[in-house]
Parts: sequence; structure tokens; C-alpha cells
Amino acid sequence: MIAESTRTRHAPIDIQPEEFRALGYQLIDRITEFMTALPEKPVATDKTPAELRALLGEISLPEQGQDPASLLNRAADLLFDHSVHLGHPRFWGYIAGTPAPIGSLGDLLAAAVNPNVGGWMLSPMATEIEAQTIRWLGELIGYGDCSGLLVSGGSMANLVPFLAARKAKTPWLVREGGLLAGEGRRLRVYATDQTHSWVLKAADLLGLGTDAIRWVPTDDKLRLDTTSLRRQIEADLAQGDIPFIAIGTAGSTGVGAVDPLPDIAAICREYDLWFHVDGAYGAAAAVLGENAPPEFAALAEADSIALDPHKWLYIPLEAGAVLVRDANVLIDTFAYHPDFFLEPQDKIHYYEYGPQTSRGFRALKVWLALQQVGRQGYQQMIAEDIRLAKTLYQRAETHPELEACSHSLSITTFRYVPRDLKEGKEATEIYLNDLNKALVEQFHTSPEAFLSNAVINDKYVMRMCIVNFRTSIEDIEALPDIVVTMGRQLDRQLRPAHLR
Ligand SMILES: Cc1ncc(COP(=O)(O)O)c(C=O)c1O
Repeated sequence: MIAESTRTRHAPIDIQPEEFRALGYQLIDRITEFMTALPEKPVATDKTPAELRALLGEISLPEQGQDPASLLNRAADLLFDHSVHLGHPRFWGYIAGTPAPIGSLGDLLAAAVNPNVGGWMLSPMATEIEAQTIRWLGELIGYGDCSGLLVSGGSMANLVPFLAARKAKTPWLVREGGLLAGEGRRLRVYATDQTHSWVLKAADLLGLGTDAIRWVPTDDKLRLDTTSLRRQIEADLAQGDIPFIAIGTAGSTGVGAVDPLPDIAAICREYDLWFHVDGAYGAAAAVLGENAPPEFAALAEADSIALDPHKWLYIPLEAGAVLVRDANVLIDTFAYHPDFFLEPQDKIHYYEYGPQTSRGFRALKVWLALQQVGRQGYQQMIAEDIRLAKTLYQRAETHPELEACSHSLSITTFRYVPRDLKEGKEATEIYLNDLNKALVEQFHTSPEAFLSNAVINDKYVMRMCIVNFRTSIEDIEALPDIVVTMGRQLDRQLRPAHLR
């Protein structure tokens, strides 16, 4: 080994130990202040793209290097002051988890060591940590002994098993011959219009075409109707198509609906389809055991599950997980053996498990958080998120200017209805949709709270999804007044003359 002092190369991108330590301490101090001040900060920014670009300055790429301390400080200023803060107690939009502090530190550590978790030879300990993380995720949700890998998020955590399903269920060598080798036989996918749009991307990317998707009708709670599913599979079989995968959602993106997973599992077994559960958001609630929706018991029957630690396990982006019963279904789908990989076969090489070759160490932040809080910590946080969402639903039910629309898992939907408007008439409903849409738009730049929307049977509603361990009852109690104040003001501006 060569002593540091005798090394002759000084690369401009390197930072010497003392300077690195000082920069790191300074940055951690700033991040700590930022996290402490978060509840008092505006949850979102109201700056336009042009204003943000002006802050960055219309400058070209610097020719000369610059001082890292000022660069880091400027980056922190820009981000602390002009972001939508997913870690704010009143961030409830989309499905975006509050980042656990240990996850942020884990990412720093992962980036510093920088194992390439594509193959065991480049990441011995990191690979084993990822494998343990996957097993723990399986245990957490009652999936039991399983394999899988971490990917960027829910879209990929669904796409990867989708490919595995195609490989497993296509009756010809689809990896070699592609779809053309089927000589016109059409592969069929079963989902509902509540399935997240990853399914469109997946059908498109795999060359099936989005028309391969059978949109199975839903019931009044937006859950897949299994009688229709069975009927559709039989009709497809009768015309020579190949039904290969049915997707059950455990916590839909819009309203948190949980499909009848046990019945879908039974139909998949009967017709030899791959049973995939999109639990990107909701599967984490299976940690509640008997207190979870009873359909979650059928997670154990799934051929594959998507579960996003960056949603309801509060892990910083990016972290999605693919869980499968047996690693071989992934290896059969993804493994190729180029001659630059010379490792023996008795080790886990994640390049064989999914589409990536080089991979970052996403697992570390998940592994750390799972241990920091344990099963009980997650039970407590997830149960509290559900309780708070339910409380909002109850407040909306009794509020004279709010209409409670749905509550499932930690998602509550509701809408603002001015007291003097009679619901039900077509013109009124059109206006209420416009009004609530305007409200959601305002909530995207409001300093006070961040909400998004859902559409339920043509009704445009406001939607709160709590995957936020910082939200407390005071935040929930404050929301109705915020909505009503904004709603009244918008109603004064927007109401058309014929509804006055
Ligand atoms: C049920 C479900 N599946 C998949 C996704 C896609 O996840 P991601 O945004 O991490 O790709 C989402 C996102 O909200 C989701 O709710």
C-alpha cells in the first residue's frame, strides 16, 4: 500500500480528508436545522418555472472548478427554500412517503462506500444485506420465505414481475422468439381501470400493446369484479388467446381500494395465470396482521408482489421492492451470461434478477429503518396514519360544507360543496368538479397543506394520503378550515351566473 502523503496524483474532483469532514459536518448541521424547521416552513413553493430558472441563472457550464463549500451551501439553499417538502407534516399528496432520517444517513453511507450491487463480486456485504432486506420485507407483510430485489419504485417493481410472468406463462420460447413466435396468439392481461398506469407502460414496453389489457369492471367500491374476470378469461380462452397474468391491487392509488385478492388468487390457480399483487402502496399495511383488511391474507398466495419502501415504509426515494416466491423465476427471465462475468453460481448476482446491471445500494436505507423501528414500530406508525385518515373522513362527514367520499387504508377523499348548492343536478356537478379541481390546483402551491385528487365515478374529489409519520391530529383538525376558506374564495371567483 502507498502512504497517502506520497501519492502524486491530485484529481480536481477529490476532496482531502479534513476538508471533507468540515463540509460534511456543515452539511449535516444545515440538514438538521432544515428538518427541525420543516413544520414552520411552507409545504410547497409557489414559484413558477421561469422564476426558478432565474434563481439558477442562465449561465453556461463553468470552465473552472469552484469551491465545494459554497456549492453545497447554495444547493442546500435552493432546495430547502424551493421544494415541495415530502417530509412536512402536512404533505398528503399522491403517495410519497416522508423520508426517515436514518434513510437519509443510510444513503450517504451507501454513496460513500458505493458498492455496485449488480454482482456479488463487486458488493459482497451489500448483496447479503439486500438479500436479508428482501427476506425481512417478506416477513413484514406475511409473504414468508421469498426472494426478490430492490428497484427504483413501484413502476419497476410491477414491471419486473410482469416480465417474469410473461416468461413463465408463455407456451413458446418468448425470450428467444419474442411475441412473433406466438403466430398471432395474443397474450392477455387482466387489470381494472383503478390499476396504476404502470400496467399501460408494461404492456407497451413488452410489445404486447396496451390493447392486450382486459379492463375488468369494478364494483361500487372500485374493487375488481371477479365474476367479470372469470367471464373475460373464459371468453379469451375460447378465442385462442393466452391469459397470462391477473393483477390484484392491495391499496389502489386513487382511493386505497383493496381488490378481492383471495378470489383472484383462486381464479389464477384455476386457469393457470400468474397472480401478481400491486401492493406498492398498501401491502405495507399487512404488518397490522389481524387488523389489516382480511383480503391481505391472500398476499401469501401471490406469485409476485410489488411493495414500495419509499411509500408506506417512509424510506427516502428511490426504493421499490419486487418479492417473488423463488429467485429462479427472475433468473429464468433476466439472466444472460456475458463472458466478462466469471463468478461461480453459488452467490447472488442481482444482474441476473432484473433489468439493471450496475445497481446502487438502495437496500441499506431500508435495512436500517426496518431495524430502527422493528415490526412494532411499523405497526404503530401505519395504524396511526390510518386512524388519522379516518378522523378526517369523520370530520368531513359532519362538516356542513364538506362531503366525505371515501376512506380506505390511509386515503380519504372528500370534496368542497358550497352550502347553497344543491348537489345532483348535472350543471351543479360539472361546476363542483371545476371548483374542486381549482382547489387541488391551489393546494399544489399552498404553504399550508399539500393535497392531490382522485376521480370517483366522474366526481372530481380532493384526496389525502397519509404516509407521513410527522402528521398529527392537530394537522388533521386544521384541514377542514383551510379547505373551506380556500373553497369559499374560489367559489366567489368561479361560480357561473346560472348557479348563483
Ligand atoms: C398502487 C401503485 N402502484 C404503482 C405505483 C407507481 O409507483 P412509483 O411512482 O414508485 O413508480 C404507485 C404510485 O403511487 C401506486 O400507488
